[in-house]
Amino acid sequence: MWGIIATWRMAVEGITKAKEELESGGDAGNAIETAIREVEDFPYYKSVGYGGLPNEEMEVELDAAFMDGNTLSIGAVAAIKDFANPVSIAKRLAKEKVNNVLVAEGAEKFAHKEGFERKNMLTDRAKIHYRKRVKELSQEIKPYSGHDTVGMVCLDQSGKMTAATSTSGLFMKKKGRVGDSPIVGSGFYADSEVGGASATGLGE
Ligand code: GLY
Repeated sequence: MWGIIATWRMAVEGITKAKEELESGGDAGNAIETAIREVEDFPYYKSVGYGGLPNEEMEVELDAAFMDGNTLSIGAVAAIKDFANPVSIAKRLAKEKVNNVLVAEGAEKFAHKEGFERKNMLTDRAKIHYRKRVKELSQEIKPYSGHDTVGMVCLDQSGKMTAATSTSGLFMKKKGRVGDSPIVGSGFYADSEVGGASATGLGE
C-alpha cells in the first residue's frame, strides 16, 4: 500500500510524478521531495517557489519544511531567498541533530555550503502583480486568494510516512514574516504509526 495527498490543483503534476516512484517501491522522503520540487519549479504558481509572489520589498522569501514520520526528525527553512528548491534544503536539514531549522541568511549560508542550486526566484510576472498591488495599497492585504501553500503527506510501501510544505507565504508580507508552513505541529506533521497532516490558508 502507498499513497500521497496534497493541497490544491497546483500539486497534480508533482504527485503524478511521485506516484511512479511510490508504485515501484520508492521512498516516501524522496517521492514527496520530487512532488514538491515540481510545484516549486513551475513559474505560474504564484504562492510557491519560482514565480512566488514577493514581500513588500519585492523580494521572494520562501518557507519550506520536511518531516520523516519514522524518526520524527524535521528540517525547515524560513525567509530564504535565491534558492531554487527550499524543500530539498529542508529535507537535508532533517538529517541534522541540531540546527535543523534555519532562517534567512543562515539558511542561505547553509544551502550555499551544501551546494544547492541558486536561482533568482522573482519572475517578470510576479513583478507585474507586485506593481499592481502597490497601486491598490489602500485595500486591506489578504492572502493570495485561491492558491496557497503546497502541503503533502506521503506513505510508501514500507509504511514510512512523510510530510512536507513549501510556500512564498503571504503576498506583500513584511520582510522576515514567517507563517505556519515551516513550523512543526502548525504547518505539518507526520508519524508513520499514526498519520500525517498539513495546513494551508493564512498562517497567522
Ligand atoms: N500558510 C502559508 C502562510 O501563511 O505563510
